[in-house]
Amino acid sequence: MRIFLTGASSGIGAALAREFDALGAELGLVGRNPEKLEAFAASLGHPGRHRSYALDVADRAALFAAARDFEAAGPTDIVIANAGISIGVKTEFEEDLDVMERVYRTNVLAMAATFHPFIDPMRRRGRGQFVGIASVAGIRGLPGSEAYCSSKAAAISYLESLRNDVHKYGIKVTTISPGFVRTPLTAKNPYRMPFILEADEFARRAVRAILSEVSYRTIPWQMGLLAKLLRILPNAVFDAVIAGRGEKPRAKDLGA
Ligand SMILES: NC(=O)c1ccc[n+]([C@@H]2O[C@H](COP(=O)([O-])OP(=O)(O)OC[C@H]3O[C@@H](n4cnc5c(N)ncnc54)[C@H](OP(=O)(O)O)[C@@H]3O)[C@@H](O)[C@H]2O)c1
Repeated sequence: MRIFLTGASSGIGAALAREFDALGAELGLVGRNPEKLEAFAASLGHPGRHRSYALDVADRAALFAAARDFEAAGPTDIVIANAGISIGVKTEFEEDLDVMERVYRTNVLAMAATFHPFIDPMRRRGRGQFVGIASVAGIRGLPGSEAYCSSKAAAISYLESLRNDVHKYGIKVTTISPGFVRTPLTAKNPYRMPFILEADEFARRAVRAILSEVSYRTIPWQMGLLAKLLRILPNAVFDAVIAGRGEKPRAKDLGA
């Protein structure tokens, strides 16, 4: 099994890489920070089996070159677009508009750029699987999160369209929608995170969902129920429920 995975050097991506490494997979590991990525790749059980690509997923040429290199070494079975950032954004601050662009570029546009170079080779083989890491945050917009929530809503909708477009080529699309997972991304969240999972536990469940080729899975399931409820709540009730909730810190508070 050969898997190309972005955002592999931390949190959910690193936990997925550890799971797939233990299952004998050959991995293409993508991360931004070269030292962090190399150190992580070296910590895996079978480091010699994998390839590392230090690049920014917003750099389409670099991403395509990495995809070509990985494909040249053998057919890719699964591509996982996991790289993502979460930074508080409010439209009232001009500097946040740049952050919003960065969030959309990483969480939405780079997802399509991650999958694109694999469509042709998978179409020729008549099989393959794309996995997008979305979020329960994409179900309703939360205060202080004007970029992240909408980027994840866009990702969910994008993945659904993609699924309908590529199934005729034999390519499956799986959307994984995490609830809360303990990673550097959630470390500074100043609010309660119900049903939070450790990254390794999340990854075990996500790998099961990926290998069973489901089209959509929320993990943990309790957050799936909550997401369904959130989707149908009238605005007035939703607003009352989230009133007073802490907000995602903005770039200057995260040092991002
Ligand atoms: N944690 C949660 O509770 C949660 C909930 C819902 C959804 N998610 C989603 O799950 C995914 C992973 O999140 P996480 O919690 O594991 O975050 P994380 O620990 O911060 O890890 C993010 C990973 O993405 C990489 N990355 C970020 N921007 C990149 C870029 N422009 N180019 C290349 N790599 C980039 C990072 O590499 P560097 O470290 O080298 O920058 C890192 O490997 C994200 O899409 C996130 O939105 C997370």
